[in-house]
Amino acid sequence: MKIAVLVSGSGSNLQALIDDGIAIDAVVSNVAGAGALDRAAAAGIDSAVFEQSAYADRAARDTALAEWLEARGIGLVVLAGYMHLLTDPFLQRFGGRIVNVHPSLLPAFPGAHAPADALAYGVRWTGATVHLVTAEHAAADTGPIILQEPVALRHDDTVETLHRRIQTAEHALLPRAVRLLLEGRVAVVVGSRKVTIDVPEDLWGED
Ligand code: GAR
Repeated sequence: MKIAVLVSGSGSNLQALIDDGIAIDAVVSNVAGAGALDRAAAAGIDSAVFEQSAYADRAARDTALAEWLEARGIGLVVLAGYMHLLTDPFLQRFGGRIVNVHPSLLPAFPGAHAPADALAYGVRWTGATVHLVTAEHAAADTGPIILQEPVALRHDDTVETLHRRIQTAEHALLPRAVRLLLEGRVAVVVGSRKVTIDVPEDLWGED
């Protein structure tokens, strides 16, 4: 299956996928000059930039982006630090074939500042989540969960030290989740009212 990775920032999660040996067909950023684009170039992966300023609105940009990916035969879209909410025209085309990595134990702390929010709340544990994004999950960082990994907070944590430890967890979790999808081990179950996933028993935690 052809894979595209959508990015906005430094691209350490993109790098984790590359280093894991997962074949990536395209990298797309909404930010010109994002560090992730350099990582794509260094790995010889085609990339493109879809800046919001070039389009009338989000829907127009997301339609162009979806068409670009469809023209390349992309079957799976990985959101690896992609910091724009995807709108309906994109979700209708790729819903259920999108995975997102997020730096918290969802559903706690969705949004763009999860490590800071966890620190401010004073939780003892947070972590990393990889989940599916379906057409019904237009809200940020929602959708059926594939894998999660807890990360403990330390008394002297800053947003940076906490985010760094969470990212270490993300870098292991994201390639693992993508491989599970590629191997067909995580089934996407499309019901009449909602899309869920069937995660094999050995991926559930133990006491
Ligand atoms: C990652 O920690 C990712 O989980 C987060 O952005 C960071 C991107 O880092 N995404 C979100 O907060 C989505 N709501 P990277 O560019 O080094 O992969």
